[in-house]
Amino acid sequence: MHYPERYLVTAALPYANGPLHIGHLAGAYIPADIYVRFQRMMGKDIAYICGSDENGAAITLRALKEGKKPEDIVNEYDAIFRKSFKEMGISFDMFHRTSDPSHHETAQEFFKTLYDQGEFKEEVSEQYYDEEANQFLADRYIKGTCPKCSYDAAYGDQCENCGSTLSPTELIEPKSTITGSEPVMKETKHWYLPLDKYEGWLREWITDGTVDGEEMHDPSKWKNHVLGQCKSWLDGGLLPRSMTRDLDWGVDVPKSIEGSEGKKLYVWMDAPIGYISATKEWAKKNGKNWEDYWKDDKSELIHFIGKDNIVFHCLIFPSILKAHGGYILPKNVPANQFMNLEGDKISTSRNWAVWVHEYLEDFQGQQDELRYYLIKNMPELKDSEFTWSGFQEMNNNELVNNLANFVNRVIVLTHKYYDGVVPDFDEDLMIVGPEGEAETAFHDSEILRLFDDVHVLCQHIRDYDFRAALSQLMSISSKGNQILQFNEPWKLQKTDPETVKVVMNLALHYVAVLSTVMRPFLPFTSDKLQGMLNLDVIKEEDEMLSMLDLLAAGELLFPSGHKIGEPTHLFSRIDDTVIAAQKAKLVKTVEETPAVAATVIVEPSPIKDEIAFDDFMKMDIRTATILTAEKVKKADKLLKLEVDMGSEKRTVVSGIAEHYSPEEVIGKRVSILANLAPRKIRGVESKGMILMAEDANGKLSFVSPEDGWQNGATVR
Ligand code: 2FM
Ligand code: ZN
Repeated sequence: MHYPERYLVTAALPYANGPLHIGHLAGAYIPADIYVRFQRMMGKDIAYICGSDENGAAITLRALKEGKKPEDIVNEYDAIFRKSFKEMGISFDMFHRTSDPSHHETAQEFFKTLYDQGEFKEEVSEQYYDEEANQFLADRYIKGTCPKCSYDAAYGDQCENCGSTLSPTELIEPKSTITGSEPVMKETKHWYLPLDKYEGWLREWITDGTVDGEEMHDPSKWKNHVLGQCKSWLDGGLLPRSMTRDLDWGVDVPKSIEGSEGKKLYVWMDAPIGYISATKEWAKKNGKNWEDYWKDDKSELIHFIGKDNIVFHCLIFPSILKAHGGYILPKNVPANQFMNLEGDKISTSRNWAVWVHEYLEDFQGQQDELRYYLIKNMPELKDSEFTWSGFQEMNNNELVNNLANFVNRVIVLTHKYYDGVVPDFDEDLMIVGPEGEAETAFHDSEILRLFDDVHVLCQHIRDYDFRAALSQLMSISSKGNQILQFNEPWKLQKTDPETVKVVMNLALHYVAVLSTVMRPFLPFTSDKLQGMLNLDVIKEEDEMLSMLDLLAAGELLFPSGHKIGEPTHLFSRIDDTVIAAQKAKLVKTVEETPAVAATVIVEPSPIKDEIAFDDFMKMDIRTATILTAEKVKKADKLLKLEVDMGSEKRTVVSGIAEHYSPEEVIGKRVSILANLAPRKIRGVESKGMILMAEDANGKLSFVSPEDGWQNGATVR
């Protein structure tokens, strides 16, 4: 296998306008952390880069709301981020800030280079302006009545009541959120990145993994929903995108550019460049050369993000990098989908979230429990669900009953039988292996099997399949448990103590291997367990590699006469009362948040007239998955979807565009009325109808099959 010389891993820079929630952790920071910790343990040259995203309207708006200065807002949240990340064991090599002068310098250099190379198109357009505040109004600074659902506090870019994407000019009775006055239209000049010009190479790069015929990445290694979103954007046609804004907070358009006064860089231009400025700072502090990581094609760049950031990392930032010249492009962007909470979307404005800093206070010393649950439910390929009951169940069943119980039994028995000294043993004695077969543990089979199992786990991590890797970790623990169950050392000790020595030595090897392979997932528990095992030999920078080398060579991990430490509990049961308190807290905060209280619950509509069973049986409803989605031109309500029905792929036009963006629906599992006569809608032939549930408020939801269901299954 060919490995790169070094890796640069980035995780999305969080906006410093609110604290972190579990969705952030599961979306980007934990997957990246697992990947980086693993590669470090394999002795790889890798840097993990992140920082606070401190520019743009998201920050100034928050400042306005809280009556504070933008500086105060970003300082406050940057500090919260650092504390939360550190306590959760997210092991950044550099956590930078985009308010740092070094970042402004790098971002301006990029802008100036693109400008000097004549990449930008200058364009004058009309935008809303607040005459009292003397400033242009970014989309989020304008509120008005939603033209779709009449909600009276919709923003210029989106209605949070019905979810529609809007443009400021669509709002009825628009008002400035700064002064409350009615804004006027005024001309302003901006610099546009001609994404339409780049469409050709972007398409080749995304779909074939090549640029000018040269191989850059393997598209089969990219997630389907990432490719699907990119293709949908490309198929919909890319438009020039403004790279500047009229704002008074952020990175200045370089002074040497005519007309730069009062203009700032668009936050999505400067934020990804934040990865580069952060790398520069890290390199400076650590005697490295930042250019090795960004400009050498023997380096691999990997962006960990949530699905709402796909277009920026897969189309816009690569365009900026290529237009600048001299930079590598990302090798992969393993974006995750979203994590929902107790059946509803996580929402900052509605306060429907589990906040990381609050979890850390409520569950002190239980960081790995949260890490474990978030990995187990990571939204790798589709949206996933966090429930407090699910959290409790996995803790009590998997961490306590499987992992902690196994480790505890082994350590306790080692103390009981051998005073904590790892026993030497007779290599030729037979024991019962984890699958119930008789074998010698060390000669031929067991240690090599352990090597194979770890190897599979490593490959899952390299493939960004962290759920599978975690499940492999637990399967190693289960096998260790099986060995104890089958051999019953507690009975055998009286009759055959020599065989018990083999069993216990093997079980201790399972525990030692677990202590290492769990580190990327459960770093705190790994430390605790290695402390318990007193095992310094594998506590090195490249501990996974050295352990694999020892296992492959069939060598023992414990030197003869090694003494282990005292047992302590790795995990404890979580009681019903603790979970009930968290559920109550969630409900209470929501009740106190006005945005939610405003949602009116209306009675469901009455049931329609009775029909015959045969009428129902005429309908052929099937399960399917949405592969691509794009807006239908000149039709606000319609999305054109390509769906996988198992036996075939079909195009369906669906009237859901006011409720879902194309990006949101890619990868969704749906039910479809498959034998509906085809219809031409706006020139597109639609075959079938996607079934939607609609509540009395007009909110829509997909009717999705349970996890694991195949496409094309019959619904009755
Ligand atoms: O979505 C967000 O939270 C953005 N602040 C992510 C920025 S990622 C990057 F490009 F820096
Ligand atoms: Zn609306």
